[in-house]
Amino acid sequence: MEEAARSRWFSPIRLGRTVTAAERTWVPAMVPWRATADGFVTPEVLEWYARFAEGQPGVLVVEATGIRDVASGPLLRIGDDRFIPGLRTLVETVRERSRGRTRLFIQLLDFVAVRRRPEPRRFFGRYLEITDSLRAQIALWLDEPRWREAKDDDVRAYLSAADRVTLETVLTDRELEALDYGYRERIWDMHLPHIRELPHVLPPLFAEAARRAREAGFDGVELHYAHAYTMASFLSRLNVRSDGYGGARENRVRLPLEALATVRARVGDDYVVGIRYLGDEVVAGGSDLEDAIWFGARFAEAGVDYLSVSKGGRFEDAKQPKVGEAVYPYTGASGYECMPTVLSDERGPFGRNVPLAASIRRAIHDAGRSTPVVTSGGITTFEQAESILARGEADCVAAARQTLADPDWFRKIRLGRGDLVRRCEFTNYCEGLDQRHKQVTCKLWDRQLDPSDPALRLATDGKRRLSAPSWSPPDDAPAG
Ligand SMILES: Cc1cc2nc3c(=O)[nH]c(=O)nc-3n(C[C@H](O)[C@H](O)[C@H](O)COP(=O)(O)O)c2cc1C
Ligand code: SF4
Repeated sequence: MEEAARSRWFSPIRLGRTVTAAERTWVPAMVPWRATADGFVTPEVLEWYARFAEGQPGVLVVEATGIRDVASGPLLRIGDDRFIPGLRTLVETVRERSRGRTRLFIQLLDFVAVRRRPEPRRFFGRYLEITDSLRAQIALWLDEPRWREAKDDDVRAYLSAADRVTLETVLTDRELEALDYGYRERIWDMHLPHIRELPHVLPPLFAEAARRAREAGFDGVELHYAHAYTMASFLSRLNVRSDGYGGARENRVRLPLEALATVRARVGDDYVVGIRYLGDEVVAGGSDLEDAIWFGARFAEAGVDYLSVSKGGRFEDAKQPKVGEAVYPYTGASGYECMPTVLSDERGPFGRNVPLAASIRRAIHDAGRSTPVVTSGGITTFEQAESILARGEADCVAAARQTLADPDWFRKIRLGRGDLVRRCEFTNYCEGLDQRHKQVTCKLWDRQLDPSDPALRLATDGKRRLSAPSWSPPDDAPAG
């Protein structure tokens, strides 16, 4: 308890002009798939955040929340004012359960279309666009010019019965990808009007979402510029847009900076606006640490209030999904780096992403700024977090899965009961649930499953505890 009291991790930090977090303990965004099908806060969402709030972390970031008013399954949304009342209840719940100790931010997300992997019969029968160039490819492959004039139905029937070599020969890479993985848009698909328009559309969408977050009472917003989503793709070296928003680094950072500026103008200087982005994409040809250092400096110059550094989680190297399922960006090597497990290389999953945050922080400090940097990834003990801060590698230390495994762990440590912390095993049962968009829970919670407990609430499959077992400090521990 004394060690915690004098530690860096449990010491306050200023974020932006007006917010002070009581501690540098941090819970990064985690989607629990508990919203209604049309994006509203549910009692299950409230319970998820209430439980984290009971551990009283310095900062809690609400899950990736969609900034558009479009159907996106049980993902929270903030794309219209009708979402504000539910979000306000969420804020009030966290204030109450953390006894006002936890600062609450919300992560703002945009994404482009990803469809499920189709059944080949449906793909050829319906989804595939039959173009003249496809007809020409078939004509060439079969050496039969009549295919250049073939009817759509004949092309569809031919492809439905074709062997793999034929398909690989006549389909484009993108068509083949749509067949094997499901159709997925790129932010450089300039032939699609809604993609072309992203630079006009996104800044006001982010700004309006931030305005709603402020109205709902959040202490700040976190712009989601990480992982597999729209803004991370703008920052990516793979971004080849030809309209001044792709190619060179200056161009790739343009839209993320424009969105930041529009958000800032909308919510004012006295509101926290942070960014989560990638220290390394970990995909062939993608952005690396050198890019991330440069982007970090630009974001800091532009007045962002903190930078939360993540790693990987891209679609480019994701595994092939089963038919009927969508490609999941945390299945390849980049996904591994995003949520590392104990099934690892010799380095192990622990603190694996810290060097990225450390390099970004150093560069920001060398440029004379002190924008706080948050690190995450495989952090699971007090000693680990404290030594990261002692070495000046980050300003805040975040833990997602460890906090899922034991939402009370910060409080237990603060109260000198670190021996009671339930340690995450880093085998990603929770991530498997996320992948299938099932209510996220931790396998360790079910070790204390007593089906006769009347207070027990189960997930919709009836097999799992929906919340971590409750914990109260033992009688000999001081209240806090
Ligand atoms: C179930 C689950 C959902 C997640 N959802 C998000 C999210 O909405 N936004 C985000 O930036 N990261 C998300 N992440 C990634 C975490 O914030 C974190 O970066 C990652 O799990 C590595 O940290 P850890 O080792 O402490 O878990 C999620 C992770 C998990 C396990
Ligand atoms: S399910 Fe596994 S990896 Fe996820 S929080 Fe629990 S112990 Fe950790």
